Amino acid sequence: MSTPPVPILVAVAWPYASGSRHLGHLAGAYLPADVFARFQRLAGNRVLMVSGSDVHGTPITVRADAEGVTPAEIADRYHAEFLDAWERLAITWDCYTSTGTENHGAVTHDMFLRLLEKGHIDRRTGEQFFDVEAGRFLPDRYIEGTCPHCGYAEARGDQCEDCGRTLDPEELLGPRSKITGAEPEVRSTDHFYLRLSDFEESLGAWLDGREGWRRHVLNFSKGWIEEGLQDRAITRDLDWGITVPVDGFGDDKRIYVWFEAVIGYLSAAKEWARRQGDPEAWRDWWEGDDARSVYFIGKDNIPFHTIIWPAMLTGYGDLNLPTDVPANQYLTFKGGKASASRGVGLTIGEGLRLFEPDALRYALAASFPEQSDTDISVEEIARRTNDELVATWGNLVNRVLSMVNAMCDGVVPEPGDRTDADLALLAGVDAALVTAADQIDRVELRAALRTAMEAAAEVNAYLNVTEPWKLARTDPDRARVVLGTALDAVNGVRVAFSPYLPFSSSVLEEVLGPVEGWHRPELSPGRPIDKPTPLFAKVDLEALESGEPG
Ligand code: MF3
Ligand code: ZN
Repeated sequence: MSTPPVPILVAVAWPYASGSRHLGHLAGAYLPADVFARFQRLAGNRVLMVSGSDVHGTPITVRADAEGVTPAEIADRYHAEFLDAWERLAITWDCYTSTGTENHGAVTHDMFLRLLEKGHIDRRTGEQFFDVEAGRFLPDRYIEGTCPHCGYAEARGDQCEDCGRTLDPEELLGPRSKITGAEPEVRSTDHFYLRLSDFEESLGAWLDGREGWRRHVLNFSKGWIEEGLQDRAITRDLDWGITVPVDGFGDDKRIYVWFEAVIGYLSAAKEWARRQGDPEAWRDWWEGDDARSVYFIGKDNIPFHTIIWPAMLTGYGDLNLPTDVPANQYLTFKGGKASASRGVGLTIGEGLRLFEPDALRYALAASFPEQSDTDISVEEIARRTNDELVATWGNLVNRVLSMVNAMCDGVVPEPGDRTDADLALLAGVDAALVTAADQIDRVELRAALRTAMEAAAEVNAYLNVTEPWKLARTDPDRARVVLGTALDAVNGVRVAFSPYLPFSSSVLEEVLGPVEGWHRPELSPGRPIDKPTPLFAKVDLEALESGEPG
């Protein structure tokens, strides 16, 4: 491809360092982002993939209170756990940092002060719930009650986990303190507000102009605007978080976690640039007309990324708004929404104890909840591993490499005289790569994985028709042509799988050579092909059920 490389910011939701993340988070944001980023790099684009641990806010302090430890201890524990998970899953961050850095604090202060100076932030006296017994205000997750939208009885002051609506504490019906269980009283307190109403018109017009966005993302976002954009408090009565850079505002207040976490995308890009020794390098992804920015998030994060963050960027000026926000729906675990705070579903660590990383990546990618909530289970992951990954792709690779090893003197054969059917197989694989590229570029990652699997099935069908194991006895020359063709086909199909299956892909790179672009690589005749070892192990479901991974 001769198009010039495009700077693509792959911006991935910042996981709260308040507990283990589960497979729903993995399938919702991190894995799709990694597949997309790996593809874009192979397609020759300049990817900057950033995220980090979200270490502030009431999710962290509520957990710390419950355990009787400091918020910092909680944040450090889960940040370390996340780093370990990314490594075990081979998530290819360019910068994975945290909101606890000095850099992030400075970038947040800069954003806050610029918006304040431009009049998009103002100071108001408002009402907040106060727990008299505990002697403190009750922001966000310190308050629970019934959701006014869906009637869920355990909605939190920041969001209802059931219907996904973002809430303000005062909207809750029958509010109660999470600390003492008491009914709170209302006291007045000063806070800074982001004047979202300033942006109602420009964001409405911007959203109307978005093309190629997922329908559910656009509908949700436009619905928010149609209800009228409310100004929102962006500071809290809390002692954990980023300080408010205004003299005399008081040290018992901090910037609201959501206001600063979204700024992480920018601060991480700046941190990356500084680490490259080129502090201005972040600008290519944030200021260039040719740059794209794609935000990988779960649907509960939609308004923060399609309205609040774009409002902040517009108010700040001169920074690119999101090109796309392909938010995923929920992954459900046997019907229930996987949820870290409610302890539903497997954690990432549990998933990795049960399955090989490529098997987990494969099964989750095949079930990415791109258009609707999607159910998975341990049995389903095992079934997809055995009946699809092993049966179609693993066996094909094993079969072809074994036959080349045995029937072609252990080396890649010369192409020889290929028939129309041989050439058609290779043309089909090349076409599948074009189709998959288009699908991944549009973030239709399930479809692209299916394209790869169908291409693998075509190669299997070709072998079943040509039967090289029989030809080896009757027409060994033709057998070598067929096996050389099948090997070339496998060599192309592996490219389509490579963003999804990094571990087995690197095993294949040792056998077939590197994948250096989004096209079928050249295979040199004479290259040795050893007897293969299977790419994936079959999962033993019975052993899994009895608690011992097979
Ligand atoms: N910490 C939030 C969550 O887990 C996500 C924050 S995404 C951000 O839901 F980029 F805004 F930070
Ligand atoms: Zn609700």
